[in-house]
Amino acid sequence: MAYSVISRRLALTLNTNLRLSVSGCRYASKAAPKAQVDFDYDGPSMKTEVPGPRSRELTKQLGEIQNVAAVNFFCNYEESRGNYLVDVDGNRMLDIYTQISSIPIGYNHPALLKLMSNPNNLSTVVNRPALGILPPENFPDKITESLLSVAPSGMTRVQTMACGSCSNENAYKAMFIWYRNKERGHTSPSNEELRTSMINQGPGCPDLSILSFMGGFHGRTLGCLATTHSKAIHKLDVPAFDWPIAPFPKLQYPLEEFSRENAQEEARCLEQVEDLIGKWRQKGKPVAGIVIEPIQAEGGDNHASAEFFRSLRKIASKHGCAFHVDEVQTGGGCTGKFWAHEHWGMDDPADIVSFSKKLLTGGFYYKDAFQADQPYRIFNTWMGDPTKNLLLSEVLSVIRRENLLVEVNRSGKALMNGLNELQAQYAGILSRARGQGTFCAIDVCDDATRNNILQKARNKGILLGACGDRSIRFRPALVFKEYHVHMFLNLFNDVLAQIK
Ligand SMILES: Cc1ncc(COP(=O)(O)O)c(C=O)c1O
Repeated sequence: MAYSVISRRLALTLNTNLRLSVSGCRYASKAAPKAQVDFDYDGPSMKTEVPGPRSRELTKQLGEIQNVAAVNFFCNYEESRGNYLVDVDGNRMLDIYTQISSIPIGYNHPALLKLMSNPNNLSTVVNRPALGILPPENFPDKITESLLSVAPSGMTRVQTMACGSCSNENAYKAMFIWYRNKERGHTSPSNEELRTSMINQGPGCPDLSILSFMGGFHGRTLGCLATTHSKAIHKLDVPAFDWPIAPFPKLQYPLEEFSRENAQEEARCLEQVEDLIGKWRQKGKPVAGIVIEPIQAEGGDNHASAEFFRSLRKIASKHGCAFHVDEVQTGGGCTGKFWAHEHWGMDDPADIVSFSKKLLTGGFYYKDAFQADQPYRIFNTWMGDPTKNLLLSEVLSVIRRENLLVEVNRSGKALMNGLNELQAQYAGILSRARGQGTFCAIDVCDDATRNNILQKARNKGILLGACGDRSIRFRPALVFKEYHVHMFLNLFNDVLAQIK
């Protein structure tokens, strides 16, 4: 590799000394010893502001073809490595956003490059099958070795899909099909049901609903969008189903100072859930399923207690509603457990668990009862992508081999400690530091300051994401070690000192 261990150590020492000597810099995060990670760089390296001239040129070019308002900058994925994303202007940034939380073990991990250079895998890359009808010979083995090896408690079945929205969309359909099969006593549908289904009328297209939570995000396709309530711009001008929306707890921080108020707030939300289930039943639109994220991510990193989720699961069972846990953003180890819902400590936490992002393929796990009874009911052309199962198998091996969940817990603790210290130091700017594993966030006093911090941080070589009205979210890869945390905290402190 281009970077020798000696030069890496030297750079790290220089970096640490530099940080400590910056005037006005009161926060100094200790330098954790750096373990050798061959494929990682030493630190950020900035040549221009971001976006730089080449990025701006390419944005203009792409702007002639499509809307580019969301494009941050253009990337050089060949040069990106480990925790560092390199842009087309040669800037190297410590990536704590990881393609909206979807890079599990960093860029260009040698184990994944090796896998893709194996000629035996070539035909999987070249020939993308219609998995629902013509799967390859190794498909059951690959699914068993990848997705089933990390199946959530109580689940032995999984359906792959392409993306998060597509997974949720099909999971909702599975819940509706389950609900109606239950209602009709598992007999065949009537001719009337078949006829009316073709003209969007009941009883073939029944008035069933899915209960979701204010602030939740489950995707942007039509069904998912009816359960997404994070930002108006996602929903504007798109028709939505009349489905119930319950309040999600708004916890006060620090948690230990507000335990009574937070318990009351959670009880209030749970009461509303039961109330809405009753109301929608009366309206003739019974709730077939409840969908929830273990941590509301896009909506602002809103947490609730394990007790809240346990009670919610009981409410779902009591009213005969399916319980769908959307782990698209929380799944894959970033909370310190492979699935965030494992923190709830339940034997029977869910009926359906959807995933995507860090799992590389989309899809959903489900209990036996949610298996569709006929072919083509849960179906599309590709139904996932076998190359992603190959990659996922290897990612899971790396996670096990390198004990990455232990690393996530260690880095997460250092990150939370650092954020709490910075929040005390910059009390006028930062508040509500919160997190599980490295899935952390902090609030900024207002939206404009938040965006200013994000931009300044990027120009210093730290890539962060926003969520909610005024939060910054931290979504590093699982290879984000303690020394990366300290490097980040020192640079972040410099940014905050400029803002103050
Ligand atoms: C919790 C959750 N569900 C669903 C989705 C939608 O996934 P996708 O963007 O892959 O369609 C997201 C995306 O951010 C998400 O965070």
